[in-house]
Amino acid sequence: MNEAATLLKAGALVAFPTETVYGLGADATNDRAVAAIFAAKNRPSFNPLIVHVADIDTARSLAVFSDEANALAEALWPGPMTLVLPKRDDAQLCDLVSAGLDTVGIRVPAHPLAHELLKEAGLPIAAPSANPSGKISPTMAEHVLTGLNGRIAAVLDGGACNVGLESTIFGGDPIALLRPGGIPLETAEKLLGRAVSHAKPTATPTAPGQLASHYAPDAAILLDVTTPGEAPHLGFGPGQADRNLSESGDLSEAATRLFALLREMDVLANRSKAKHFTVAPIPGTGLGHAIRDRLTRAAAPRP
Ligand code: TXA
Ligand code: MG
Repeated sequence: MNEAATLLKAGALVAFPTETVYGLGADATNDRAVAAIFAAKNRPSFNPLIVHVADIDTARSLAVFSDEANALAEALWPGPMTLVLPKRDDAQLCDLVSAGLDTVGIRVPAHPLAHELLKEAGLPIAAPSANPSGKISPTMAEHVLTGLNGRIAAVLDGGACNVGLESTIFGGDPIALLRPGGIPLETAEKLLGRAVSHAKPTATPTAPGQLASHYAPDAAILLDVTTPGEAPHLGFGPGQADRNLSESGDLSEAATRLFALLREMDVLANRSKAKHFTVAPIPGTGLGHAIRDRLTRAAAPRP
């Protein structure tokens, strides 16, 4: 922990666990450190990064909170939610973090190691998911090293992430959904007492999670397959399958296991004659919405 904080303060890249996925962290006030994130991930530079902070007060020193943003933050932080809000003029953040936008994405993560690191470093930490751009997000320290070994200074190993999907991103006033994730939309709707709409897609995607192809394994994927055939099959609920997201049909368990199993299915598919794999239908309610979103992008034609 000590070493990780020291490296961060010196401008190095340190991957760390959050409850959603592993993040690739850099000092959010240091332009060169943040630039190194884009280089390590091979990330298109128009994509802004999420700034992680230890508590809601620090978040309020960086961004302007509407009443709705306050309601969500107070109920859901620390936790798997990001708010994209107007950046304060006096915010101590480098411009590259927001990729030139006048908004900033902020999150207070719930993972104890992430919290400890933020406290120990005493810095806002810019962190995208710790994977090469366009590839499957890491939910274990080993996944981080598979994608980024040699390009980062260290990874803090906190075992498997317990949510397993990236944070839900809300932004705007009134609040709209920018990316489905670890907090179900219904939870936010209950807190705000109204329906929450999806933000309209812009010509330039502001989130790589909005690109058609993302979270992609190498093998092709067929979704919503009810009867497994020749190809390796990723199941959900009871039935014949090579791997299963959740035999009991539990969406939280499926979310936790999703990215690790996509990696395993990729290996099975590449060893198979079919060269692709199939996935069982996932219901579109609660966390199923975000799971379906990730699967759809993983299955989309590659650029
Ligand atoms: O759970 C998570 O959100 C993980 C962990 C590490 O916190 N992080 C993550 O980061 O998923 P990343 O970079 O893979 O996705 C964050 C998304 C990006 O697609 C980015 O474009 C969007 O948040 N974002 C960040 N700041 C934004 C802003 N100012 N306006 C619009 N979108 C923004
Ligand atoms: Mg990502």
